[in-house]
Amino acid sequence: MSRAATRPGRALRGETSVPGDKSITQRAVLLGALAPGETRVIGGNPGADALAALGIARALGARVRVSAGARGAGARGGVGKRAEWRIRGGTLAESERVLDAKNSGTALRLATGLLAAQPFLSILTGDASLRRRPVDRVIGPLRALGADVRARAEDRLPPVVVRGGPLRGAAVPTRVASAQVKSAVLLAAIQASGATTVEEPAATRDHTERMLPLFGAPVVREGTSVRVEGPARLHGSEISVPGDLSAAAFLFAAAAIVPGSDILVRGVGVNPTRTAFLDLLARMGARVERLDPRSAGEEPVADVRVRTGSLAPVLVEEREATGLIDELPLVAVLAAFARGRSVIRGARELALKESNRIATVAAALRAVGAQVEEREDGWEIEGKGALRGGRVDAARDHRIAMAFLVAGLRAKEGVVVEGAEAAAVSDPGFLARLRSLTR
Ligand code: S3P
Repeated sequence: MSRAATRPGRALRGETSVPGDKSITQRAVLLGALAPGETRVIGGNPGADALAALGIARALGARVRVSAGARGAGARGGVGKRAEWRIRGGTLAESERVLDAKNSGTALRLATGLLAAQPFLSILTGDASLRRRPVDRVIGPLRALGADVRARAEDRLPPVVVRGGPLRGAAVPTRVASAQVKSAVLLAAIQASGATTVEEPAATRDHTERMLPLFGAPVVREGTSVRVEGPARLHGSEISVPGDLSAAAFLFAAAAIVPGSDILVRGVGVNPTRTAFLDLLARMGARVERLDPRSAGEEPVADVRVRTGSLAPVLVEEREATGLIDELPLVAVLAAFARGRSVIRGARELALKESNRIATVAAALRAVGAQVEEREDGWEIEGKGALRGGRVDAARDHRIAMAFLVAGLRAKEGVVVEGAEAAAVSDPGFLARLRSLTR
């Protein structure tokens, strides 16, 4: 395991960009594998999760060519050359190997939906973390379409076995508000015969709905329901991937807590189902501005400027927690730097992420001197406006590693993160980018 350390130093200043959105990249790769013809993914996320999706696409017979750079449409303003992946899809075949989603819940769950309608057997698994994360949430809804999907531990945990075959459209209510579940059902439904309506308990990120029409599968949306008509006549597409707001969030948080900071991140995806963190950061007292709003395909993009502010405590409840789910470890760190008691609740899902984030965040916060109470669905954090610092374990979880490297920029004694290499799951260049802003 590698360790990395951050300590208080200069303010963060200047402009940068972030890797392509991980959720959008994985959808583009899997749809590119399914759709006949060529798909170009421009500026895809280079992290291990997205590469796992690419590996699954290849194992199923999609041909993938990687080239170093194309100028991405929709990413004007300093983003420069972005890697391009050309995927030739349309005729998938049974893999002689087990498909390995590694650390990626999105790759595993979305591929399960995609494979449910393919006329062959697939076995999907992942690393030790992923093998502890639930898949019954996708298996139930996929069975409503007639899918034959099973899993270990009474259909709860990976490995997953998919005996693909013909599916029929259906009305599918989902139990958990999860974009992964919704997307898995939609990837199956566009290959089924007849109409499928997915009804979610609460709105989740809508990248799949925005992307499907670009591949030839129209969707009808009404409130929290999405309807597709199958089988869709798919074709390859070109997807220019916006910068990942969930990666940029770490830089924004750093700018919010390190006095005198003023940064601009160019070309960030600002899809309204993803921007709850920007609103929260402003509510806490940082100065947040969105500049030059534009779009990349169907996704809204902007340059986002963040300046330091003195932070107030927050109350985050379930309504807001869904849209903030990936940023909540970072919100907990910000709460420790605020003055007063922050309450974050309604976020039970955190326990089912790459690590049990309720527990790992609480342990890491304590290790750096914060006062935190752990709840079943979140934390109560007594912010002191400062942190001592210390040594934390990233628990092989990219977002924990990055959140505490950010904390080190303001904690008196700095922070040493054991297992900092976990950041490469979503942002291999994270530390270099952070440091480039403090030079
Ligand atoms: C994702 C959806 C979210 C999120 C994950 C990526 C996606 O998970 O936490 O990092 O790409 O659809 P859930 O859908 O399980 O909430």
